[in-house]
Amino acid sequence: MLEFYLDTADVDAVTRFHNCLPVRGVTTNPSILAKAGLGINRILPELASILGGDSRFFVQVVSQTADGMVDEARKINALPYDLVVKVPATETGLAAIKQLKSENIQILATAIYSTHQGFLAALSGADYLAPYVNRIDAMGADGIKVVADLQLLINQYGLATKLLPASFKNSGQVVEVLKLGVAAITLPVDVAAQLLAHPAVQPAVDQFTVDWHYAFDNQLSFES
Ligand code: G3P
Repeated sequence: MLEFYLDTADVDAVTRFHNCLPVRGVTTNPSILAKAGLGINRILPELASILGGDSRFFVQVVSQTADGMVDEARKINALPYDLVVKVPATETGLAAIKQLKSENIQILATAIYSTHQGFLAALSGADYLAPYVNRIDAMGADGIKVVADLQLLINQYGLATKLLPASFKNSGQVVEVLKLGVAAITLPVDVAAQLLAHPAVQPAVDQFTVDWHYAFDNQLSFES
């Protein structure tokens, strides 16, 4: 089963998508939380009350040194939620990941812009990798190919790491990534909304309603 996450601090949007989709949890990053003006001690209780206690949340360290990241990750991990700590897949971050995995803390390696960078993070022990699909595309490279190559390497080397691609701007990128069989995905709410919207759908449903009322007035289907 695909792990489907929303990449947001918008509580109303999480409620909306939780009503119609199997939202497994929420991913955040420092920019998302800063924009919303919400720290994790405010947002996590709200999200947990919407999604339920078994939801999974992703919180990124903001420390700049490996020791600082390790210490911060331990404290994030001690919070009373199902948490995965996001660590940037830099050289410093990989050192922190290696240490944290020896303590069995769940880790997502983030800010992945290339296949080789993601592969090293997987070797360091990251449980999840977040390649930034649209940001890679925007730099003139191929985000889908980075995801495809990472999936191939993970399979080829029998690694337990799961791909959780992030950074999407359109539904086409989402479908291409899903076709690769990724274990997880996180979508910004505008892209999740795009997946639900097709201009032909509502007119088709409206025509069914018109045809039905013409023939059967206000009867329901089982009454006709
Ligand atoms: O957490 C990473 C992801 O949120 C980046 O997405 O839309 O800022 O490129 P974006």
